[in-house]
Amino acid sequence: MASSFSLSPTSPAAASLSASHRGPATQHSSASVGFRGSPERQALFSRIAPAYDNLNDLLSLGLHRVWKRMAVSWSGAKKAERVLDLCCGSGDLAFLLSERVGPQGEVTGFDFSKQQLLIASARRDLSGKTCYKNIMWVEGDALNLPFPAYYFDAVTVGYGLRNLVDKRKAMEEIFRVLKPGSRASILDFNKSSNAFTTSFQEYMIDNVVVPVASTYGLAKEYAYMKTSIQEFLTGKELEKVAKEVGFSNAKHYEISGGLMGNLVATR
Ligand SMILES: C[S@@+](CC[C@H](N)C(=O)[O-])C[C@H]1O[C@@H](n2cnc3c(N)ncnc32)[C@H](O)[C@@H]1O
Repeated sequence: MASSFSLSPTSPAAASLSASHRGPATQHSSASVGFRGSPERQALFSRIAPAYDNLNDLLSLGLHRVWKRMAVSWSGAKKAERVLDLCCGSGDLAFLLSERVGPQGEVTGFDFSKQQLLIASARRDLSGKTCYKNIMWVEGDALNLPFPAYYFDAVTVGYGLRNLVDKRKAMEEIFRVLKPGSRASILDFNKSSNAFTTSFQEYMIDNVVVPVASTYGLAKEYAYMKTSIQEFLTGKELEKVAKEVGFSNAKHYEISGGLMGNLVATR
């Protein structure tokens, strides 16, 4: 089940989505039943939502903006295309996609946290940028996408795949909704095979990320980052899963000395 947020009634994407995808376009309605993502994770992302953007800027010294621009560029999204930002959170990648596809394009920002989507929606309204009218926010589960096959010209995921309980299923869903020849660009922390990089990443999480997050009362929530990277897939493993679910090509790029990584998979 999915719900749409702040849909412009004139948006063709909103109209087609509400017509063909699980129910009417409702404003700020909740659909938290039936998620395969654990309810604990959903609650965690809702708790961090108010501090999320500030912490991203602080903890990455603003670099997350550069990595997100790279991810969006690697997605190959072009003018007038229909694109999906999966696990969109407060919307950073969706806003970048919106500028790329322009007023003739359509962007869907998709997330299972209503709080994150409310912030994304408020940021869009506050920006006053008319070009962002091509975005709609949809609440739902990344493991059960409410879109038909071959629907999108590009899919981005920023720091989302690592948090999904079933990564392979997520990759299958991304593959299903992409048009042949189109790309998924998946940015996340890199689970490095290099012991020094891993130690540095863990040192930074323990000694910088968690202490800074604790000033927002979010120490426990950010300590989860370390486990989630340990349980994530390496670049090679991501490439393997992408090929196994059907992508014709998959290449993982290490960024910023291997601290981050971006998988580019072509259907
Ligand atoms: C770390 S945030 C990333 C947000 C944004 N993409 C960014 O890069 O700033 C991860 C997001 O994934 C969402 N998420 C996690 N599991 C999900 C699921 N099963 N379905 C949909 N969204 C999910 C969370 O609600 C959260 O907003």
